[in-house]
Amino acid sequence: MLYAGIAWSVDGYDVEVIDADGNRATAPTHWDAARVPELTAWLAAPGPALEPPHAIVLESTNGLVDGLLTAAGLPVYRADPWVLPQRPDFGSVPALTLAERARTGLASLSALTAEGGGQSGRDDDYHGGIRRSAPYEEELTRAGRYFRHGPRDRPEIALTFDDGPDPVYTGQVLDILARYGVRATFFCVGLHVHTLPDLVRRIVDAGHSLGNHTWSHPFLPDLTPRQFRLQLERTEEAFDRAVGRIPAVFRPPYGARTPEALGELLTGGPALALWDVDSWDWARPGPERIARTVLDHAGPGSLILMHDGGGDRRQSVAALPAVIEGLLERDLRFVAADALMAGARTEGAGTHRGE
Ligand code: NI
Repeated sequence: MLYAGIAWSVDGYDVEVIDADGNRATAPTHWDAARVPELTAWLAAPGPALEPPHAIVLESTNGLVDGLLTAAGLPVYRADPWVLPQRPDFGSVPALTLAERARTGLASLSALTAEGGGQSGRDDDYHGGIRRSAPYEEELTRAGRYFRHGPRDRPEIALTFDDGPDPVYTGQVLDILARYGVRATFFCVGLHVHTLPDLVRRIVDAGHSLGNHTWSHPFLPDLTPRQFRLQLERTEEAFDRAVGRIPAVFRPPYGARTPEALGELLTGGPALALWDVDSWDWARPGPERIARTVLDHAGPGSLILMHDGGGDRRQSVAALPAVIEGLLERDLRFVAADALMAGARTEGAGTHRGE
């Protein structure tokens, strides 16, 4: 029986595969973000005489590869901080440590499913973090730096794509957007910006907007304030290298909030952009269902969440034309997420003057 561990670092993923005795079954391998589809195929068939691993283990600070692995039917497990040694401030614990954890203590790990997503089983930490963040959210809202949607009295919406850039799907999304001549915002992860700068340039050259979605798509409740800040700053540096600009908006992975993270945002940095319409495309309910979910819930001011990376996004791509056509039929104008929020800021200031 084999056990695999996947660690993330500044330039991609390290993978180790061990056998039941703890010996290496394959040489350590390194994969950059452009090769995650190949990594998935390799784990499904690691060698002529090797079976697929009995368990593939990731940290809770790595939310970028589980989607593709579970979609391929592979057995993926998440190791939470309390079963691991302390990780560095930027990066995860070594891949060998993760594989060893599966070999010696599989019951202490959480099995992930395509339907449950990367943070299944962490509901208490997720909702607790959001509850404790309320005062910080109010403060950021007063400063005009926290949004779920834009003004409801203007025919404007923002279409947003998270977890890219992706070597397979981002180009397909860009082609469809170009066909309709509509603008969107891409909340990219630093690991992929770092590896695929040409795709980020293509996004910008096509007139779209960028958002920061952290470096490795971590579960925020598991980060220290310093670790959170590094996730943001390293991603800003990658954007700056790729396109010479830094996004004005940030979206937390899974929409998680913590006082520690929001405290870092209070003193400056990007505005926080959540969403009010979730397409649920990541759960792959079928393209028709994705389009219907968006069209049933979207209206003036909506911030619509879809995905171009972090998993098998064929359904998101297939749903996109119907989403765009349905919104265009309602005479809604597609604007960048930061432009939608700038409208909300103006509106907020007007309301304030009237009081
Ligand atoms: Ni995400």
